Amino acid sequence: MKMTNAFKATVAAAALVAGGAQAQEVEVLHWWTAGGEAAALNVLKEDLAGQDIGWQDMPVAGGGGTQAMTVLRARVTSGNAPTAVQMLGFDIQDWAQEGALANLNALAEENNWGEVIPDALQRFATYEDQWVAAPVNVHSTNWVWADASIMEELGLEQPQSWEEFVAALEAAKEAGYVALAHGGQAWQDATLFDAVLMATGGPEFYQKTMIDLDMEALGSDTMKQVFDRMATLRGFVDDNFSGRDWNLASAMVINDEAAFQMMGDWAKGEFLNAGQTPGEDFLCFRFPGTQDQVLFNSDQFAMFSQGEGVSDEQAALAEAILSPEFQIAFNKVKGSVPARTDLDVSELDACGQQGYAEYKAAAESGNLFGSMAHGHANPAAVKNAMYDVITAHFNGEYDAETAVQELQTAVEINAM
Ligand code: GAL
Repeated sequence: MKMTNAFKATVAAAALVAGGAQAQEVEVLHWWTAGGEAAALNVLKEDLAGQDIGWQDMPVAGGGGTQAMTVLRARVTSGNAPTAVQMLGFDIQDWAQEGALANLNALAEENNWGEVIPDALQRFATYEDQWVAAPVNVHSTNWVWADASIMEELGLEQPQSWEEFVAALEAAKEAGYVALAHGGQAWQDATLFDAVLMATGGPEFYQKTMIDLDMEALGSDTMKQVFDRMATLRGFVDDNFSGRDWNLASAMVINDEAAFQMMGDWAKGEFLNAGQTPGEDFLCFRFPGTQDQVLFNSDQFAMFSQGEGVSDEQAALAEAILSPEFQIAFNKVKGSVPARTDLDVSELDACGQQGYAEYKAAAESGNLFGSMAHGHANPAAVKNAMYDVITAHFNGEYDAETAVQELQTAVEINAM
């Protein structure tokens, strides 16, 4: 068969794509595999497609990104780094320290990132005055997601204190509902721990224990009370909580099986993806006792050096991520708020607007803290060691006294 030029061009293009080396393409490693996350990620894929930039997807399932970081290390070790990687806080700093990330300073200066990205995020997006990642959003983790119909049925008001929250959990359990929808995975147990610690010891205690890694505070009676409260929460989860993915716990609240879920605001993406409306089908409120604080984490895309500095595709990806239009469109779906501080967020829903206002207020009042569970309080080695102690205690392997001792030991061994 005589091949026309057009047909030859089609074959050549197909070969390029098949070879995974399409002219303009980015390979992105991430862990956004839940429904709401995938919907949000689509916004980015479509944005790039509009610029004729292809997307080679490298999803690694596993909430909180632990599995993704393991796969990433294997990829980089074999000399095959992806174009860009979803990454949290201290992990970005670790890879930057290894010299693995591209210098985005030219882009940052051209687009004024320094003016529109808050210091709390620049602390992680830059390394030794070099921009190495493009911040996508700001999530916060000290939220409770509540089934509005169950609360109404039981005549429950929004709990304002630990005691009121426990009373609400008890009422839901007595009424035959799962009181607390939870997934028994270390990062999820740690997400609860962040909020309970902040509520129990307050911001100074959170700073001392999670960020300063102060041994005396880590071994204090207050820390024992934190673990005692974690044991109380353990009494409100269902028998099948172990290993459950976070989005399946969200589904229990969405489907009126459970009254509450404690989770970061990516959970809102699941409620929205299920067609639910905040304030009607579900309520969002800060974990009782942390109403004045915001525990945050930011999803950033770290750009891995592809040899000669920043590639055209990486530049296009980074500029797409930081564009005002994308920042609004993506965060509306994701459940987070924009990384940029110069945007009109009136398109966000009620929970998003509340989250954005509380984030800015917390930044102003010194009540904005990086989430330990999501890599924004201390280095990965310490975070992972804390995970092990918290989840061992939650699963009944340690009593509170032992957990406090194990936490001190874990930090002593792993803090740089
Ligand atoms: C967080 C991440 C969110 C979401 C969540 C659940 O660390 O920032 O975007 O992916 O994990 O996996």
